[in-house]
Amino acid sequence: MLIAHDFARAVDPVLMATDCGITPDPWQAELLRLNPKRALLLCSRQSGKTTVTALMALHRAIYETGALVVIVSPSNRQSGEMLRQIKKLHGSLKGAPELVGDAVLKVELANGSRIIALPGTEKTIRGIAGVSLVIIDEASRVDDELLAAVRPMLATRADGSLIALTTPAGKRGFFYEAWHSDDQTWHRVRVAASDCPRISKEFLADELRSLGPARYSEEYELAFVDDAASAFPTAVIERAFTTEVEPLWA
Ligand SMILES: Nc1ncnc2c1ncn2[C@@H]1O[C@H](COP(=O)(O)OP(=O)(O)OP(=O)(O)O)[C@@H](O)[C@H]1O
Ligand SMILES: [Mg+2]
Repeated sequence: MLIAHDFARAVDPVLMATDCGITPDPWQAELLRLNPKRALLLCSRQSGKTTVTALMALHRAIYETGALVVIVSPSNRQSGEMLRQIKKLHGSLKGAPELVGDAVLKVELANGSRIIALPGTEKTIRGIAGVSLVIIDEASRVDDELLAAVRPMLATRADGSLIALTTPAGKRGFFYEAWHSDDQTWHRVRVAASDCPRISKEFLADELRSLGPARYSEEYELAFVDDAASAFPTAVIERAFTTEVEPLWA
């Protein structure tokens, strides 16, 4: 009975999510079931992007023996926060392989799978290879230099997956370029605050008052706006440099 249920969870990550106590929103359920190899999630604050990605990471670690999942973000704190969410979900899932190693930035499961949260500094991440899932949290705010160091991690695994999740942050960087490119290998998911059943109109009105219209349109309406602090609009700055932009993922 338990084995049959575990098999059903392996096949349907939505069942695993509900066993963790989370009923995925429709877009989260679709993403969990699709499990795309390359995904860009452009999602409002508090829409549930970290939660759904944490579920994807946990599913990978449980049902792929010896999987290596790597979390990258602009800071230790953010990568660690994603790992904490994964541990919390794991703790609420009966019958999951036990944690045999548990550190602030790294966990290991009894099936040999590991989940590692990396700090946002490029130097520390060389030498990690054969990764089955790379997660880039707050991807609009991660340096392109760091992303270039992440890319070889997937090189030795034809089936390695990459998920980048973020709110917008200016008209520049890997996420902005990938989101607007015509590269169809990316599965794109867009979730504005108005699409999230848990975000109320009153909360949004408060946020608009405290953030002002420019920040609000980035954080909740997913607008890529020029950095208000910048003296020049992005297009002017880019014309001053080069028109050649190398894609980070071909
Ligand atoms: N399907 C769901 N059902 C119930 N609660 C959910 C669901 N998805 C996410 N949540 C809850 O909503 C809150 C925000 O989720 P989460 O942290 O994943 O959002 P986020 O988009 O990463 O937010 P932020 O932009 O602040 O990082 C959390 O308290 C989370 O537990
Ligand atoms: Mg988050």
